[in-house]
Amino acid sequence: MIRLTDVTVRFGGVVALNAVSAEFTKPVSGIIGPNGAGKTTLMNVLSGFVSATGTLDKDGDSLMALAPHRRARWGLRRSFQREEIANDLTVFDNVLVQVDSAGKGGRRDEVARMLDLVGMGDKAGKMGAELSGFERRLTDVAKCMVGAPKLIMFDEPAGGMSIEETQRLGDLILSIPKATGAQVLVIDHDVELIARVCAETLVLDFGRRIAFGPTSDVLADPKVKAAYLGTEEIAT
Ligand SMILES: Nc1ncnc2c1ncn2[C@@H]1O[C@H](COP(=O)(O)OP(=O)(O)OP(=O)(O)O)[C@@H](O)[C@H]1O
Ligand SMILES: [Mg+2]
Repeated sequence: MIRLTDVTVRFGGVVALNAVSAEFTKPVSGIIGPNGAGKTTLMNVLSGFVSATGTLDKDGDSLMALAPHRRARWGLRRSFQREEIANDLTVFDNVLVQVDSAGKGGRRDEVARMLDLVGMGDKAGKMGAELSGFERRLTDVAKCMVGAPKLIMFDEPAGGMSIEETQRLGDLILSIPKATGAQVLVIDHDVELIARVCAETLVLDFGRRIAFGPTSDVLADPKVKAAYLGTEEIAT
């Protein structure tokens, strides 16, 4: 379980997050809301890039007490909208460098296993520079899956993808908790993707929690529909 209690972030006069509390209990949960709602800020708080007041914990481990660089070692992984794939390394080595060098044996086996899971097993020898956008994304997901992660966060992972690629990515995200033991948080504007992969969802608007609970309930909530009015269509 990931528990946020009264998480507040101010940037000068802007209150990017306003006393947000939630308990994410499902293997894969979503965070949605209009542009500027505070979604990425919340992931930045979890990563430690942005400081906040309030508390954050995952299964009893306090994240606020850990410096950002220690959160990676603890098991926090994040996938950015622009994947961080080295062009001059193979797919295999891109994933291998992610594994803690102080880690136990069997690291190469773990890398191979995760590349198989994401569907890049037969392309492990390809150079980063030769990858398509979707292959870069899959490699980035494999990087998040190695090294015993506890919490994996995706910020708009389906950006720029075709419908078919988004489906494959959704299936992959759904398989991550079982394959790795990590809990997963997903931000996306693609509400269909969120509805398919996230059992529960937090909705933010102007830095406030406006809804939280089972995704189908949240998407049917009039407050949520109103927050999206005039910005984008929300499918229910
Ligand atoms: N480093 C920063 N300095 C100042 N203001 C910031 C900073 N980061 C975010 N903000 C502001 O905080 C608010 C929340 O931004 P955030 O990026 O978290 O929104 P978001 O929900 O991720 O939006 P989007 O869907 O467009 O990605 C916005 O008003 C934004 O302008
Ligand atoms: Mg954002």
